[in-house]
Amino acid sequence: MRSTLFLGVLIAFEGIDGSGKTTQAELLSKRLAGEGIDNEVLREPGGTKLGEGVRELLLHRTDLKINPATEFLLFSASRAQLVREKIIPLLEQDKIVILDRYFYSSIAYQGFGRGIPIEEIETVSKFATQNVVPDIVFLVDLNIETALQRRMAAGRGADRMENSEVRFFESAIGGFSYCAKKEPSRFVIVDGREPAQRISDKVFDVVMCRIKKVAEEGNAP
Ligand code: TYD
Repeated sequence: MRSTLFLGVLIAFEGIDGSGKTTQAELLSKRLAGEGIDNEVLREPGGTKLGEGVRELLLHRTDLKINPATEFLLFSASRAQLVREKIIPLLEQDKIVILDRYFYSSIAYQGFGRGIPIEEIETVSKFATQNVVPDIVFLVDLNIETALQRRMAAGRGADRMENSEVRFFESAIGGFSYCAKKEPSRFVIVDGREPAQRISDKVFDVVMCRIKKVAEEGNAP
């Protein structure tokens, strides 16, 4: 739990693979920098040296058999390190922190996708994150067919998670909308079929509005 007033703002992007959330995180970062606003983009899994090692295990070591429980704990381990090593210190320095995925991905993929009970995911995630929740979560909403087409057009090989069945991604989409319904004041759903620049304009407006509010009132836990 954050305890003191500060000016840092935590923004997360969520969505299925190929939804365009990484593009949006990067566009937001550039636009904020263009306004002279200090910010950092961190990705999950990863974002720290240890986290990048865990990412390699989770996504690229296709020779390893990873049980769903282990998979969830590895994502959570990477997250626990990221929160303590990067997110909290950056927020305490009044930085804008942009996350390319956060624990909502675990609810969607490991919970709805793999069948781990949601309450267990939520309990472990609270511990992993020290209950640091984003001020805003942008959910880039896109259907599986379009996401798959985009991934194929990009021509990069699929990682271990991306090799999952279509049904898995359908469940994950259901998981993201569960999260958005549960926390409507935190989530902003953007239409991933729109041109990237138009989505970015909307994201930027919402973020600037929040930054101004925080600058006037400070950010409370
Ligand atoms: P992603 O950001 O999509 O990486 P890339 O852009 O290189 O594909 O995330 C990697 C994969 O990990 C993606 O398939 C989603 C999955 N994932 C989970 O299953 N659970 C999690 O908690 C997180 C953070 C990611």
